[in-house]
Amino acid sequence: MLLAEEIYILDDKKIVLRSAKLDEAQMLIDYLKTVTGETRFLMSEPDEIQYTRKEEEQFIDKHNKANDALLILAFVDGEYAGNCSFESKAGSRRSRHRAGIGIALFQKYTGFGLGRLMLNRLLTEIKNLEFEQAELTVAGSNKRAYHLYESLGFKECGRIPNANKYDDGTYDEDILMVLQF
Ligand SMILES: CC(C)(COP(=O)(O)OP(=O)(O)OC[C@H]1O[C@@H](n2cnc3c(N)ncnc32)[C@H](O)[C@@H]1OP(=O)(O)O)[C@@H](O)C(=O)NCCC(=O)NCCS
Repeated sequence: MLLAEEIYILDDKKIVLRSAKLDEAQMLIDYLKTVTGETRFLMSEPDEIQYTRKEEEQFIDKHNKANDALLILAFVDGEYAGNCSFESKAGSRRSRHRAGIGIALFQKYTGFGLGRLMLNRLLTEIKNLEFEQAELTVAGSNKRAYHLYESLGFKECGRIPNANKYDDGTYDEDILMVLQF
């Protein structure tokens, strides 16, 4: 799906939400390398981000063209701040009603309501498409994200102990959350 440009004002900043363009593939790869180094709460370490520009272009293209996926980029006062996305969980007809969500912002753009704005926008599209539930996974230590998801109506439905083993030998659990519409 494509999201045409939308403009919001948040905390006196101009926020633009829109779909990604193919020529932003390298920007998205660089962003992934940075945000995975800024927090332990994302899926991998920076050195594990090995996407080629072509693969990233395919990722953008797939989200823009599919009718059951959406990638939303956020810009704050003209600067790229991060993105959120959903994809249908459909491997078969049985899971077509489930949407999987992800979100990550550069640290400098966290903590002033942008995540809430983006997720509300994403959830509106998910509901409009008549998905029956949205699902996500959050690391147990990620208190900010957990609070945000809970306040949006997500409910915890399970925990995987020691799901994440970090390079320093410490662990964190994963919490599975679901929002049923
Ligand atoms: C998680 C993330 C998307 C949230 O977006 P954000 O813009 O920072 O969040 P918001 O400012 O919209 O909302 C954060 C909420 O958490 C609250 N919060 C902040 N720190 C908190 C903490 N340590 N414990 C509990 N709540 C906290 C805030 O008060 C706010 O709640 P409120 O609106 O009820 O006051 C963003 O911080 C991010 O991208 N972090 C790095 C990557 C990441 O963790 N991604 C999620 C992986 S599951």
